[in-house]
Amino acid sequence: MNVVRVAIAGFGGVGRATANLLLSRRDRYRRVYGTDIRLVAVCGSRSGLADADGLETGRLDALEPGLSGPEFIEASGADILIEAGPSDFRTGGPGLAYIRSSLSSGRDTIVISKGALVHSGPSLRAMARSSGALLKLSGAAAAALPTLDLIEHSLKGCEVLEVEGILNATTNYLLDAMTTQNLGFDEALGRAQAGGFAEADPRNDTEGWDTASKLILIANFGLDAGLTMDDLVVDGIQSITEQQIEAWRKEQRVPKLVGSLIRTGGAIRAAVGVRTYPLSDPLAQVSGKNKAIRITTDAMGETIAIGSGTEPLATAAAALKDLEHILTARAARATAGS
Ligand code: HSE
Repeated sequence: MNVVRVAIAGFGGVGRATANLLLSRRDRYRRVYGTDIRLVAVCGSRSGLADADGLETGRLDALEPGLSGPEFIEASGADILIEAGPSDFRTGGPGLAYIRSSLSSGRDTIVISKGALVHSGPSLRAMARSSGALLKLSGAAAAALPTLDLIEHSLKGCEVLEVEGILNATTNYLLDAMTTQNLGFDEALGRAQAGGFAEADPRNDTEGWDTASKLILIANFGLDAGLTMDDLVVDGIQSITEQQIEAWRKEQRVPKLVGSLIRTGGAIRAAVGVRTYPLSDPLAQVSGKNKAIRITTDAMGETIAIGSGTEPLATAAAALKDLEHILTARAARATAGS
């Protein structure tokens, strides 16, 4: 049977969930793809193997001590890297080093953390093209909510004219709780943190940066827009007042933090900010920690998707959807080469 070796860089909640889900699906990979998937290495500042039942640690023990993380992954002999660690959109690090090293070796790479892709998306794409590696990012581009999938597959061939996305679960949950349950900002945020979907620094959510990051990935990887964070006007929900909420309630309008892309002439304009919708608009119905995207195209009109997976399982599942696409592509490559 064909053997494919997988390594995971970043072993926090999402990395662990990915490892566990991967191992629990090994029978599926054998059955559907005729592939024996082996998890050969994990690495991260909080590395630990106990939670990942059945993790094969042999290669970890066989490696020289003192290697950097990317060298460790390189030495593990992995065919596919899943990058699940943190990365900062201002610097790309630390995830960027793993992704660069992996792509430059021609290794198919699945990226979950957004920062490196926001920082260096176009150059990573070029690197993947020149080395022949596949670069996938469903887990980074809003995870359980299909975004790039819609553009690349369902709407293939159409010109995307406009995108509106409720891309951040935390702010949607906060706005919903503040407007429909009369919860205060701090109390609602505490619940989002307890639920495990708010970022470690929740300002990334509330000030709009997480939405902006996902929007840039959709723009750059879905529409080839070449945007950087400097091209966006980013506004969050941190300054919303009780008076504003009361006014929206009276007007029967529902506030949402929305990332938007509009094609004007040859360019794509992007922004993040609060928009309000009448109750009849499907985006007004997206409650709690759900996310949604509305894509308008020249030939297929409006398409709306709503996603509601529970973290971190949903993010892990999005990354493993990418893995299955890679297995399909590898099988096609092998057939073409035989
Ligand atoms: N904090 C994010 C959200 C999850 O609330 O959607 C990770 O992107």
